[in-house]
This record gives sequence, structure tokens and C-alpha cells, in this order.
Amino acid sequence: MIKQPYPIRRAVFVCTNKRPEGSPKPCCADAGGFDLYLKLKEELANRFVMDVGVYASSCIGPCDQGPVVLTFPDKQCYMKVSEDDIQALADELVAE
Ligand code: FES
Repeated sequence: MIKQPYPIRRAVFVCTNKRPEGSPKPCCADAGGFDLYLKLKEELANRFVMDVGVYASSCIGPCDQGPVVLTFPDKQCYMKVSEDDIQALADELVAE
């Protein structure tokens, strides 16, 4: 095992989980999770933010409230995030 410091101060997990067709449980992929993931990454890149990592994630939990975003070390869960929320979410993510 190799262990070393990683140059981010905040990790952001965007659920992009996709359930099989016909699943009785909803999923963030069907609620726009993957587009949200790409657009949030793009927004932070446009702001030249290098120390906030955005990662596509499997299921976080509140599937019926998707798309879901989870942040660390803040331990904040954002639900029902839409494209209209990206600017405000990015503002929060870059704040100290
Ligand atoms: S599928 Fe996204 S939280 Fe479960």
C-alpha cells in the first residue's frame, strides 16, 4: 500500500447510480445525476478550482430525493439538486 496526502480540501460525491429498467426503486441517473456531475465539474473548472474534487458516486441513500450530492469533510447532503442550483452549490463548495 502507498499512502500520501491528496491535494484536495473538499470531496464532492454526485450520485450517478443507474438501476435496471423496471426497478421499483428510483435512481439518481434517471433524475439527471450524470448531467449534474458533468456540469458541476465544468462549473468548478471554469472557476479554476483545483482543490475541490468532484466524483461520480454509486448510491448514497436517499434515492427518492435525487439527484443527491454528498460533501466531505462537511458531511452535507444535498438532495433534489437541479441545474438551477449549480451556481449556488459551487459557491458553497469553494467557500472556506
Ligand atoms: S440512487 Fe442516488 S442516492 Fe440512491
